[in-house]
Parts: sequence; C-alpha cells; structure tokens
Amino acid sequence: MSIIEEAVRKTAERHQRPASPEHPGNRPRLRRVPPPAVDAASVRRFQPVTLERAVLEENHILPHITDPGALRAYKILRTRMLRRLEANQWYSFAVTGATAGEGKTLTSINLAMALAQDSNTWVFLVDLDLQRPKVADYIGLNKSLGERGLTDFLLGDATFEQIIYSPGGIERLAVIPNFQAVANASELLTSPRMDELVRALEAEAPRRIVIFDMPPVLASDDVLAFAPQVDGMLLVVAEGITSRDALRGAKELLQEMNLLGVVLNRSEAQEEAAYYSYAR
Ligand SMILES: Nc1ncnc2c1ncn2[C@@H]1O[C@H](COP(=O)(O)OP(=O)(O)O)[C@@H](O)[C@H]1O
Ligand SMILES: [Mg+2]
Repeated sequence: MSIIEEAVRKTAERHQRPASPEHPGNRPRLRRVPPPAVDAASVRRFQPVTLERAVLEENHILPHITDPGALRAYKILRTRMLRRLEANQWYSFAVTGATAGEGKTLTSINLAMALAQDSNTWVFLVDLDLQRPKVADYIGLNKSLGERGLTDFLLGDATFEQIIYSPGGIERLAVIPNFQAVANASELLTSPRMDELVRALEAEAPRRIVIFDMPPVLASDDVLAFAPQVDGMLLVVAEGITSRDALRGAKELLQEMNLLGVVLNRSEAQEEAAYYSYAR
C-alpha cells in the first residue's frame, strides 16, 4: 500500500472512530437533523464581478467541467465535506498539502463552486497563499480593473467590503482574491488586521462556510501560523507529485490539527472517480 493510500485510509478510519479523549476533534455525528435553511435575504451580497468564461473553461473550473468522473468526484467531495462540517459544527477549513503543484488551488476553487451550487450553502473562498496568490488568475477575475485584494486589506489600504466579490451567476459564492504577492506572509497572517478579517468572516457564520486556499505546509510556516484560526484542514495529495517523505513530513506537522479529509488528486486509478477520489 502506498503512503498516499495509507493516509487516505487512516483519515477514513479516524472519522469512523468513536470519540475519545485523544481524538476530541473527530466526534461522531450526534444529530441527523439537517441544519436550518438559510434565509437568503439575510445573507450579505458583495461587489458584483464577471468571471471570464474562457478562463474558467481553460482551467477546468466548475460549472465548466465536462468530464463525468471529475464532476462526480467533486459532488462526492462536497457532500462529504458538508457532512463532516455539520457533524462537528465547523464553518471554516484550510486547503493545504505537502508541496507545490498538487492541486490545492484548483481543489479549493472547485469545492467552493460545488458547495455554492448546493441550494442551501453559502461560501467564502479566500486566497490565503500570500506568496503565490492564484485564485483570481484561475477564475478570470481581472486585476486590470483596479480591484483590491487581501494584501490591500492586510496592509490597511482597503476595507472588508472592498476586497469581497460576488461572481455573477454563482449567487452563493463570495471570493476574497489577492493580486499582490508578499514575502513576509506569516507575519501578515498573524497580524491584528488578519484577526480582524477572520472575525468579520466569522460574523457571517453559520450562514457561510469559509474555505482558505493555503500554501503547502512544508514550504513555509504560513499554515502553522494560521492554523489556530480555522476549524479543520483538508489535505490535497497528488499521485506522482507528493513524495513519500513530503507526505510523511506534512502528516507530522498536521498531527495537532483537525484533519477533515484527504483529497487524492491526479490519481491514475480508473474507479468511480477517475481524476479525483476522496477518503471513504
Ligand atoms: N487533476 C488535475 N488534472 C489536471 N491538471 C491539474 C489537476 N490538478 C491540478 N492541475 C493543474 O496543475 C497546476 C497546479 O495546480 P494548483 O491547484 O495551482 O496546485 P497547488 O495550489 O497545489 O500549487 C495547475 O495548472 C492546475 O490546473
Ligand atoms: Mg495553490
């Protein structure tokens, strides 16, 4: 069994395990009743923005994915994430991995889109890879229009409302992009301004789920610095990209955090989800 398969299996086991003092964050579901429906009128709307369709198509972003295996896999991932968040009464999670290029940003965006397609789920997608912000590029959110993003907020040059965008046609999604890379990311991530942002996002819970697209855990201390601000972690690993040693290192660093799941990206396995599969 490969180390990736083992990580996927262990995550699945962890979620089936009964609550214990050693694993307080992974309690079994206590209630089967669905959460109360969100009153759409009570959810805030933000600056409208149009995403470039050609860019979405080119980058394989929902709803412009035609591959049935990928579509099915994102739906499965959405359902499982919703179930785990609800079971724990959690509202926020960070998407991370071991190294660059595993598909963290693509997974964050498509999961956010898939969740927002659910009629009762409202989502914030935050580009929190401060050193390599990519979300705006992937979804065709054009910076030439002079939009402001997360770094502008963190540096005190923009307000909360000025950095949030509501893409047309995806009513329940709000995006906080970033257009300006910074070197001193972990200092900004633990700054009072970041706290302010997290509090402002929290004020929208439980109406909104917050997804933070983050850098890999092994590349910097950004994820560790920000971890106390999120309810859980979603780990993306990629067949052929994530090495055994890197995954072992990432698992070690993530040990103290609530692991919501492991996404196996770029899998060669021709099973129910050809491109993407998820811990069962
Ligand atoms: N399953 C996949 N199939 C094909 N291309 C993928 C897949 N996952 C990611 N990619 C591509 O790989 C590149 C890196 O993905 P990205 O999401 O930016 O990785 P990360 O955020 O982990 O660095 C992007 O060009 C993305 O479109
Ligand atoms: Mg990324």
